[in-house]
Amino acid sequence: MRYLIGNWKSYQTISQTQTWLTDFSNAKPKINNRIKLILCAPFTDLAEAKRIIHHYGLQIEVAAQDVSPFEEGKHTGEINAKMLSELTTYCLVGHSERRREFNETSEIVAEKVARLIEANLSPIICLDTPYLEEQIKLLLHKRIPLERCLFVYEPLAAIGSGQPADPFEVEMIAQKISFLTESRCPILYGGSVTPENVISYARHHCVDGVLVGGESLNPAHFVQMMDNLSYES
Ligand code: PGA
Repeated sequence: MRYLIGNWKSYQTISQTQTWLTDFSNAKPKINNRIKLILCAPFTDLAEAKRIIHHYGLQIEVAAQDVSPFEEGKHTGEINAKMLSELTTYCLVGHSERRREFNETSEIVAEKVARLIEANLSPIICLDTPYLEEQIKLLLHKRIPLERCLFVYEPLAAIGSGQPADPFEVEMIAQKISFLTESRCPILYGGSVTPENVISYARHHCVDGVLVGGESLNPAHFVQMMDNLSYES
């Protein structure tokens, strides 16, 4: 199974999401069952995106981009895993932008992963080399069932920079993640992925797909990446 995951970050209003999905549907994408398409959308878009996806009969899933480390309770403004469970089955956690801008530590990320697992959601966990081992060890310590998780190697220098990581280096890090997780979960790469370079990552044995930021905002490019990945699998 190959994964193509879009990360819309803090972009896309509800009406922009409607336009994106309509354009995607109009492109008549040939989605085969060897490729899983997931869109990590802002909380405000999840319900409408789900409705439109169903309306057009698209084989694409929506995911959240974050979750509260707390269970339901007196935590004003927090969106908890139980709330998400009625909207989606996946949630991104530990993106480097959240680690940097919101001081998220590996401990907080592990808590969020635990909440998601309790609510039967699959965490998509972002990793970079400085905290890769620490993060996986914390998850193992919490007895997180890693077979229910996805990991994404996202080197900081490659994110949003137009300077993607060397595919051989990505394969080496993916092998390391695979070793630490006893090959129990899919491993993806993220960082300046484009329709042109997507195949250079997917070709590698340990890389099961990609997480795409900027280029996922363009539905035509998303279709192109899907076609290129399908061709390779
Ligand atoms: P990018 O973002 O594709 O724009 O580099 C990737 C990510 O941050 O998930």
